[in-house]
Amino acid sequence: MLNTAEILNQITNRRKDHALTRDLYCDEGVFQADLEQIWYKEWIYAIPACEIPKTGNYATLQVGSYPVLIVRGGDGKIRAFHNVCRHRGQRICSKPNGSTAKLVCPYHQWTYELDGKLVYARDMGDDFDASKFGLKPVHCVDLSGMVFICLAQVPPAIADLASKLATYLAPSGLADAKVAFSSSIIEKGNWKLVIENNRECYHCGGSHPSLCRTYSDNPRMTAMEGPDSASPEILEHWNRCEAAGLPSRFINHPRMQWRLARIPLLNNAESYTLSTKAAVSKRMGQMPFNDAGSLLFFHYPNTWNHFLADHSIVFRVLPLSPTETLVTTNWLVHKDAVEGQDYDIETLTRVWLNTNDEDRQVVEENQRGILSPAYEPGPYSMIQEEGVVQFIDWYCDTMAERLSPTPAMAAE
Ligand code: FES
Ligand SMILES: [Fe+2]
Repeated sequence: MLNTAEILNQITNRRKDHALTRDLYCDEGVFQADLEQIWYKEWIYAIPACEIPKTGNYATLQVGSYPVLIVRGGDGKIRAFHNVCRHRGQRICSKPNGSTAKLVCPYHQWTYELDGKLVYARDMGDDFDASKFGLKPVHCVDLSGMVFICLAQVPPAIADLASKLATYLAPSGLADAKVAFSSSIIEKGNWKLVIENNRECYHCGGSHPSLCRTYSDNPRMTAMEGPDSASPEILEHWNRCEAAGLPSRFINHPRMQWRLARIPLLNNAESYTLSTKAAVSKRMGQMPFNDAGSLLFFHYPNTWNHFLADHSIVFRVLPLSPTETLVTTNWLVHKDAVEGQDYDIETLTRVWLNTNDEDRQVVEENQRGILSPAYEPGPYSMIQEEGVVQFIDWYCDTMAERLSPTPAMAAE
């Protein structure tokens, strides 16, 4: 298990534009450092807000060692708490989703309001001050229908992303959406391999026959490289969509932690379906036409998303161990769309269920190969894998900054 100095050494001495060393993809010390420096400090995408549409609806998730509970209060506000009872520490909600009037600990029935206040604790004596034992809050924001949480004491700035998402996601109307289908799979690979695999389509032709019917594997068609890499087809798509009120142009965080861009699908396809036609007859929000392509949004470390005219697909990545990662996918449709009438689940989900499983296989084989002592980091394609280079640069720069001794400490 590597210590901090050894991890920092491998990160700072890495070969630029090459895959990472074996340890960085499988070592337990690196995994702990990733949790401490990235997962416990960054904003983490948690759930679509429409997963908990009503007062008392809740969702739980585990971020490293932290069980977290997200619940909608009586005031309609979504809040997050450490899912840990203030009595003797029981996890309060154990199910992934549920609905409750109050949060009742299953061990000794301490009872909390949906805003975290402790309202009932039997036989604790006269001098017990319940106001001191509310649930511990976790930072939580609802960004235009996507709920992010942050475990840090002081979370990083998010106002800029919030305002960009408000503009870009407005036409998708996520507040008026519902979860039509949800899938969770465990990929036996390091979380960075899962993100790397998502950030390139070099593998798409060989792995994704159903996705490739509608999604181009040409990086210039998907604006993966940056705002200047757009092809004439994309520019035309942006002009057409923006004239119809759909913000579309590539925008990004200065260090590429996130990016938004609306891309056309192949051959005027409407959706990620085998037929290339819309899967849902009722469009999302204010989407003006079916062939609006896909608004792509990623945010490191843990989400990528596709917002189409007829549905949205939102992805959440959570690290489970050095070589295991949970990938949860939610398919969102207009809340008034009726299953069996306006859409059917098989047509809606087939392409991305296939794609997720195909990605799981390549990630798992990638991890197996990397576990070999014969593995040696190879070069990324600067034509096809610019997105991977950006992610790895973001990861290494972030880790190097946070793991480096501060000048004051170094002088001691
Ligand atoms: S641990 Fe929750 S009530 Fe005792
Ligand atoms: Fe893929």
